[in-house]
Amino acid sequence: MRLLIAAALALSATAATAADPLAPTGRWTANTRGAAATPPMGWNSWNAFRTEVNEEKVLGAAQALVDTGLAKLGYRYVNIDDGWWLKRRVSDGRLQVRTAIFPSAAGGGFRPFTDKLHSMGLKAGIYTDLGRNACSQAYDLKSPNLPVGTAEEREVGLYGHIDGDIRLFFADWGFDYIKVDSCGLTDYAPGRDHVLSQGYRPLVPLIDRGGPARTDIVKVRGLYTEVADALARYNPDGDYVFSICAWGQANVRAWGKQVGNLWRTSDDITPNWSRMLHTFDSASGRALYAQPGGWNDPDMLFIGAGDFDENHLVEARSHFSLWAIANAPLLIGYDLRNAPKSLLDIWGNADVVAINQDSGGHQGVIAYDSDDLQIIVKTLSDGSKAVALFNRGLAPVEATLTADHLKFASESPIQLKDLWSKEALAPFTGERSFTLAPRETRLFRASGTRALADGMYLSELPGNVNVAEDGVVNPEPDPMIHRALSPWSGSRSSGERPNYAGWGGAQADASPYGQPLQVAGRRFGSGIGILSGSRLEVRNAGARRFSAVVGVDDWTRNPAAKVRFYVYGDGRLLASTAALTAGAAPVPISADVSGVKIVELVVRGEGQPTSVVWGEAALSASPRA
Ligand code: GLA
Repeated sequence: MRLLIAAALALSATAATAADPLAPTGRWTANTRGAAATPPMGWNSWNAFRTEVNEEKVLGAAQALVDTGLAKLGYRYVNIDDGWWLKRRVSDGRLQVRTAIFPSAAGGGFRPFTDKLHSMGLKAGIYTDLGRNACSQAYDLKSPNLPVGTAEEREVGLYGHIDGDIRLFFADWGFDYIKVDSCGLTDYAPGRDHVLSQGYRPLVPLIDRGGPARTDIVKVRGLYTEVADALARYNPDGDYVFSICAWGQANVRAWGKQVGNLWRTSDDITPNWSRMLHTFDSASGRALYAQPGGWNDPDMLFIGAGDFDENHLVEARSHFSLWAIANAPLLIGYDLRNAPKSLLDIWGNADVVAINQDSGGHQGVIAYDSDDLQIIVKTLSDGSKAVALFNRGLAPVEATLTADHLKFASESPIQLKDLWSKEALAPFTGERSFTLAPRETRLFRASGTRALADGMYLSELPGNVNVAEDGVVNPEPDPMIHRALSPWSGSRSSGERPNYAGWGGAQADASPYGQPLQVAGRRFGSGIGILSGSRLEVRNAGARRFSAVVGVDDWTRNPAAKVRFYVYGDGRLLASTAALTAGAAPVPISADVSGVKIVELVVRGEGQPTSVVWGEAALSASPRA
């Protein structure tokens, strides 16, 4: 009988949790599978060679990584992108490598190739698609390296083959990294020109680029989750990386962190300044959605080409500085067999790489924002900060860095080390101004006295925060992303419109809709802005007190709503507020979190979400205020 009651209680608890996404779990639920404690680093064939990849080019890049010392700096993944496949053998479903370009696979597979990379101390990456067909089969129809054979033989993607292909790639062939693209789910609608001309089997799209209501978010996420589960199955040692390539579609910017190790936040980068701004912006506003094990991916580096080539080193260094401070994966996309020293010095800047690879995993947060100048600040695990002063435009700008941007005390000296020139600047107090050349980024390591002496604001620690529920009910496109002239269609289309869901998501030091944090007229320089109907999981590494000043955001879209704030420690309620409405003065909330591993911050509201403020939310060492 007792057992029955216990079982019934357990069942009802599960049912309650399933029914109530805001119920505390006492757990950290962001993805921790795979091997991506810091952003992945390495090389990928696509930006250098597109589908015209071959073994010589890839092994040449691998050898260069070793010879130049880049491998020692952490560039260890050598990833083949689209173009490697010949066909799928219909009798047993096994994929065949195009051995004309990968001769070492002549014996039947990629094992000799991955063995070779492993013997060089490197790791091997492969590419596939979640649909039946790949991107090149829609967009590179003149490529010499398209799959061949019958329609069925040319179905080289994972659709219907997830288990078998993942087993082949990892258990049989020994790969360590996989990029899973989504053109097969997107670009093979019945009646499309290439579907007809190439005789492909059509697939009603699960993703409609730019048509969220016609995108099946649940199914897309479900398929990527099937891949994640297969990867765990065939990599019992956990040594693998799962790269989701859904280009910011299907609301992946919200759920990527639950499923993969990195997820593309936008369409492809091209070697154009304006396009780089676009892909960067798609990731830079999402600091709270990345953490060790899962990273926003604004696409691979394009250093060495176009606006980032040897004649544009200011731009190339900016590109690298931005990827570093945003915790973006650092995947070189250049033919490394012929790299000039000026470019090697960029990828090889150990101080900049160290910013990206810092073990805290805190993505840089935008401390000052404009279309001209951005100041981005990243907390490092030794308590110092990295700061990027980024001139986005073509005119010189005056950038004033303040102690407030760094959350340092304004009366104490601040030291800056320039991570490109290596110069240590004379200490200053309060603020210091810089003139930035067009498109220049100054990147510094900063040390000073913390403004909050015995603790850290949560907005300084995005790597310790998992946005388990952000309260967004209907995905809305993010309008804060630079709109580039299309590198593919120029002004022939209707132009770049906001396209990637995620607007209204949780923000560090800003409201969900990009305003400063403010409650009943009181501004908060630090804090988290989020919608009601939300739950944050916060890792607590030994702090004894959580505190915040909370209320409804003055910019709320739903001023009638009433909300309550709750703080949990390892699943137990520690503190809560009375019901608060728009215009009500902010109220303090705090709790003793000694010994607590996971602090959960929940905001419940009635009806439509309203935006709220966890002002000055912080974890501190002392148990009392
Ligand atoms: C898509 C991806 C790119 C690349 C190509 C390959 O466009 O976003 O990164 O993998 O496909 O065809």
